[in-house]
Amino acid sequence: MQHIVAPSILSADFANLQRDVEMVNKSQAQWFHIDVMDGVFVPNISFGFPVLKAIAKYAKKPLDVHLMIIQPERYIEAFKDAGAQTLTVHYEACTHLHRTLQQIKQAGMNAGVAINPHTPISLLEDSIAEADLVCMMSVNPGFGGQKFIENTYSKVKQLKQLIKQKETDTRIEIDGGVDLNNYKNLLHAGADVLVAGNTVFASKNPTDTIAQLLQFP
Ligand code: DX5
Ligand code: ZN
Repeated sequence: MQHIVAPSILSADFANLQRDVEMVNKSQAQWFHIDVMDGVFVPNISFGFPVLKAIAKYAKKPLDVHLMIIQPERYIEAFKDAGAQTLTVHYEACTHLHRTLQQIKQAGMNAGVAINPHTPISLLEDSIAEADLVCMMSVNPGFGGQKFIENTYSKVKQLKQLIKQKETDTRIEIDGGVDLNNYKNLLHAGADVLVAGNTVFASKNPTDTIAQLLQFP
C-alpha cells in the first residue's frame, strides 16, 4: 500500500502561511500535519484555533492534527469544528485514553494516539483496537528540526507485531527527524505515514522533496 507523506506546518513560514499551504495542495503529499502545543505538556507553544482555521480555509487535503496538550478531551468537538479529519492525543496526557479515542471517533474523526520516545509499545495493548493511527514520536515532542532517535526502528517493528496480533488496521505514523536518509528504513520497518517538517520546508524545493519522500522502494 502506498505510504502517506504529511508535511508538518510547524516548519512552514507563518508569515506566508497561505503560500505554504498552497504548496502542499499542489504537491503529492496526501495530508497536512498540524502540531498544537500548549506550553504545559511540551515546553513550547505553537498555535491554536484561529491559525488552524486559517489553514483549513485553504487546505485541500485532510488535516492530521497532533495535540501536544494536557486534557485534550476538553477540545474534541472544537477541533472537529475547526476542520480536523484525524485527531491525535498523547498517551501520556490522557487519564481515560480508551474513552477519549472513542469520543474522537463518535465526533466523526479518525482517532490517533501518540507516544513519546520513552513510552513502551506494550502500554498500547489494551487501547490499540480503538486507534486508527499510532503516532510514534521519533524525537521528544515540542520542536521541529530535532535529531531522529534510532531506537524508533525497533519500536516500529514491535508496534507492527502488536497490530498484527490484535488484527486491527491501525496506521503507524512516524513524527520527528524524518529525512531523505532514514525514510526508506522506516517504511521497511512498517511505517505507513511519514511526518516531515524541516526536511520539507527547509529544502530548496519542498515540492520535489515531498515527491522524493514518496519514492519507495
Ligand atoms: C514535534 C512535532 C513534529 C515536528 C516534526 O513535536 O510533533 O510534528 O513538526 O518536525 P521535524 O520533521 O522537523 O522533526
Ligand atoms: Zn507532530
